[in-house]
Amino acid sequence: MTQPIDLSAWQELSVHYAEMQGTTLRDLFANDQTRYQRYQQQAAGLFLDFSKNNITDRTWQLLLKLADQAQVVDRKAALFNGEIVNPTEGRAALHTALRNRSGNPVITGGTDVMPSILAVLQRLRIFSDRVREGDWRGYKGQMITDVVNIGIGGSDLGPLMATEALGAFAHDRLNLHFVSNVDGTHLAKTLKKLNADTTLFIVASKTFTTQETLSNAHSAKQWLLDAGAAEADVSKHFVALSTNIEKVSEFGINPKNMFEFWDWVGGRYSLWSAIGLPLILSIGMDRFEQFLIGAHEMDEHFKHAPLDQNMPVTLAMLTVWYNNFHDSNSHLIAPYDQYLHRFPAYLQQLTMESNGKSVHQDGSAVSCATGPIVWGEPGTNGQHAYFQLLHQGTHIIPTDFIVPVESLNPIGNHHELLLANCFAQSEALMMGKSGEELTLEMQSEGYSNDEKDRLIGHRTFSGNRPSNTIMMQRIDPKSLGALIALYEHKVFVESVIWNINPFDQWGVELGKQLAKSIQTELSEGKSVSSHDSSTNGLINRALKLRNLQA
Ligand code: F6P
Repeated sequence: MTQPIDLSAWQELSVHYAEMQGTTLRDLFANDQTRYQRYQQQAAGLFLDFSKNNITDRTWQLLLKLADQAQVVDRKAALFNGEIVNPTEGRAALHTALRNRSGNPVITGGTDVMPSILAVLQRLRIFSDRVREGDWRGYKGQMITDVVNIGIGGSDLGPLMATEALGAFAHDRLNLHFVSNVDGTHLAKTLKKLNADTTLFIVASKTFTTQETLSNAHSAKQWLLDAGAAEADVSKHFVALSTNIEKVSEFGINPKNMFEFWDWVGGRYSLWSAIGLPLILSIGMDRFEQFLIGAHEMDEHFKHAPLDQNMPVTLAMLTVWYNNFHDSNSHLIAPYDQYLHRFPAYLQQLTMESNGKSVHQDGSAVSCATGPIVWGEPGTNGQHAYFQLLHQGTHIIPTDFIVPVESLNPIGNHHELLLANCFAQSEALMMGKSGEELTLEMQSEGYSNDEKDRLIGHRTFSGNRPSNTIMMQRIDPKSLGALIALYEHKVFVESVIWNINPFDQWGVELGKQLAKSIQTELSEGKSVSSHDSSTNGLINRALKLRNLQA
């Protein structure tokens, strides 16, 4: 199998990178008045300005050549066509079918998956309408006021992020809560505010074997029983979202109260399936369908647009350019929208669980860097925390600014200030401020020559720091759906270039295995010697301190 670094475009990019040294974004803009017009794309209601990247036409051609040589076109066809794109688990990855609005069948393993998808959506509609309209009642006959989603990873981050992001469209009576951490504080703090008579629990787990989720679900059930409910009342307060009907029944949830999905839905790609129930309860099924439509429009764009006009491909190839040629292995997500405050956390799982891999598809060790570290906070908060490092630190951190032009909570000139800050940051990162400019500025501010010489190095900005800006009219179900699908496909394209499997996650297994045996040791309470000295020491020290406390 040809590995990425053996492709001729990869080698040409290495040479080109060396030639690019000394080329600055400032110069590229100064010498080309059409740069902004040429480096922009639009799809599914999203606008992308990628002109503030350290690329020339030659870079762009070579990146597209690399995408072509890595067979992005064939691989995306395999993804959409339900082929086994996750060979280590022997599965297709058909999140695109979950939002397929075309009316066309989607076949995998000889079966059209669309009838089951549409049937579950219909059940979700009926159930969510009943809860929203106050027809679904708790065991004392009261309407549901609070919904607690118990899940972790993909069964938490997606629904939590999207429910927050679409908070402007939330149901008046229903309050959504999310419990993920096995730390009892998370459940205890959440339940403290709630009334068992009017609380509905959603146990969300693809496998229904996840330790954290099952522990929280058992404790939540006990809380309900302690509040006076009987076993028979549990069905009015618990529903499950899962692929595992046996485990759901074993837990004590009536399969009638289970909304299913399928093994070809990856955990971190599951928001579009029954895992979206918290979001559906919050915004209603009609708006959830808009959310699916937004994603489907992005799917259609990704499927059909040529590589040079394809937004997910563009974002992916820019990441490859920085990650593999500039050695810049961190990527900042800066949404200038408070509703998107959990978007970076959601993208962390999407990108880092997908592309945090060290072997190629054939199991051989990778010969290039793979997925970057993704992080972020909503703007403008980051500006007053870590933007210092972006502007003047030694690391180059490509940044995605995400900004709606319209606020859903217009107050005075707040949104103008937000937009101004967003545009100012990308300009400052790109342009910087030279010694000459500073000299003039400091002279006009009345600094003496001595003071100026002492401070000028500290106050200079090198600039030349890359960013993308993704703009939309506003954050609504449709634009959010498109935005998430954009990043899903970006991550997929990166995986194709690096020739890795983005749909498995073996790296989470070892810790899970060890935690199981350590938990047994902790509950037995005897001093241990079977681990390394540090782990033995920590376990034994914790046992001693816990005994002292008891
Ligand atoms: O441990 C990682 C992981 O398997 C994720 O991939 C997944 O989203 C999460 O755990 C939760 O899994 P489940 O939905 O099966 O409880």
